[in-house]
Amino acid sequence: MCGIVGYIGNQDTKDVLLDGLQKLEYRGYDSAGIAVLNEAGVSLTKVKGRIAALRESVDHSVHATMGIGHTRWATHGVPSENNAHPHQSASGRFTLVHNGVIENYLELKEEYLHDVEFHSETDTEVIVQLIEKLHADYGDTAQAFREAMRLLKGSYAIGLLDNEDQDTLYVSKNKSPLLVGLGEDFNVVASDAMATLKVTDQYLEIHDREMVIVKRNSVELQKLDGTMVTREPYRAEIDPNDMEKGTYPHFMLKEIDEQPIVMRKIIQEYQDEDNELKLDPAIRQAVKAADRIYIIAAGTSYHAGLVGKSLIEKSARIPVEVHIASEFSYDMPLLSENPLFIFISQSGETADSRAVLVKIKELGFPALTITNVPGSTLSREADYTLNLYAGPEIAVASTKAYTAQIAVLAILAVDTARAKGLELDFDPMQELAIAANAMEILTDQKEALEQLASDYLATTRNAFFIGRSADYNVCVEGALKLKEISYIQAEGFAGGELKHGTIALIEDGTPVIALATQENVNYSIRGNVQEVVARGANAMVISMRGLEQDQDAFVIPHVHELLTPLVSVVPLQLLAYYAALHRDCDVDKPRNLAKSVTVE
Ligand code: M6R
Repeated sequence: MCGIVGYIGNQDTKDVLLDGLQKLEYRGYDSAGIAVLNEAGVSLTKVKGRIAALRESVDHSVHATMGIGHTRWATHGVPSENNAHPHQSASGRFTLVHNGVIENYLELKEEYLHDVEFHSETDTEVIVQLIEKLHADYGDTAQAFREAMRLLKGSYAIGLLDNEDQDTLYVSKNKSPLLVGLGEDFNVVASDAMATLKVTDQYLEIHDREMVIVKRNSVELQKLDGTMVTREPYRAEIDPNDMEKGTYPHFMLKEIDEQPIVMRKIIQEYQDEDNELKLDPAIRQAVKAADRIYIIAAGTSYHAGLVGKSLIEKSARIPVEVHIASEFSYDMPLLSENPLFIFISQSGETADSRAVLVKIKELGFPALTITNVPGSTLSREADYTLNLYAGPEIAVASTKAYTAQIAVLAILAVDTARAKGLELDFDPMQELAIAANAMEILTDQKEALEQLASDYLATTRNAFFIGRSADYNVCVEGALKLKEISYIQAEGFAGGELKHGTIALIEDGTPVIALATQENVNYSIRGNVQEVVARGANAMVISMRGLEQDQDAFVIPHVHELLTPLVSVVPLQLLAYYAALHRDCDVDKPRNLAKSVTVE
């Protein structure tokens, strides 16, 4: 949610800021702005809309060697030019960008800023006005910045310019991501290393409630009490090519196609030379020792957790509960004696999940994060991390991260089963390799799936997905994919549940997509299909080879029954993609959404 870039160096800053913001657009894209500072003062450009619009509005004749930029996902105040960042203090001396939510902004306004006239509806403007107020007291920008940060409650990543100092950029963070990128004669600041990888691959982590005084040739890291901190930089290992679409029209399609490659990468990373599973023994021990596992996640990652529950329970025989992170925070169930918490998060930055992690760490419980971003907040703050090796996922709709999460959970489940001495008729690496081949076969069948999307989903208002057991878990993910990018109202249901209420919504022509990949419930799900067809539904059955019937619309290759979700989700991802195209939707950047949800 919201992306920040900052630059201080000797080159003109506009391109670094605009290119960086373009890379961060996945974090929010309802409005954007940049501020650059030179001897003439600050030049500020803000637009409602995307970075392309910002690029057009920027005055390219202004030359400046320092600046800050922001791409927004609105929390306080509608998307508008006025509410777009950067925001300025009353005198115009201070200019600031912010990602996060300030929980005590009303109190701060009342206590310190009752005489200040505000120009936006944002919580952010409170920060910059507060800094100006405190500057009047302290007469020193670093001190005013530090004091302001100490007063803030909530989440923030902040970049500040002081009109009267062309040598310093002030930054700080709490619970929102922010990094300092190190260069020769320049330094940058970014919400994600991806934004500035073009100029540097050396990064310095900023921890919560630290501030950094960034100059052209130095970076001074300190705690908010003024204590200096030293920390070694690290090299960001992201292949810049992974961040480009190449010949693909959309990142989502590229990422769907990458799934077989990701499966093979996971096999390679989690297997040693003797073809044994390769996992950190400490993780093995932690999982084995747990009397109950609590999986915490949101959205698609939560759906992967549902599949993970069944994999772990069936293989490792440890009871698993899967919880929506935002619910768990405020309504914690009774916990077992020796729980292990598993956080599943593509980005590793989801605020709802992090809130749970903070709570359970306070209670002293162990935590494992499964993420695509090893240096992310959830990864750093948990005891253990398992990497997804999926490469950057840029499209807002998660695809390859979902299948990578399931694959890693399958490996973890089998590894634990083996550590417990349980007999298993399941070689995960072999079965994952088979699933990877099956995925490839499916991604080669785009024409057929595009036709199905056009026949069933091009004009409908709503759609239902039904399945039983493992298929039900995939149905909820299929429905989420469809609704988030095509805006069709879609729901996933357990096949047997429909007749307990929802079947009332079935009318002539209502699309019902049924998954039939589970032998033990094939008969029952087919019965559910008959029930909806009898009420006028336009049913599309997607079955698995070996269980198919003549009238089925699409048949996926046969894979091990524990891994069917890896494969059955692929046609659902492609159906959602083509439905969105047919309806002229912005596939990679659907309305109202952002890739990384860093506010609770
Ligand atoms: O980064 P995370 O996996 O923690 O994100 C969780 C959800 O926000 C995410 O999966 C979301 O539901 C996707 N956009 C769905 O495609």
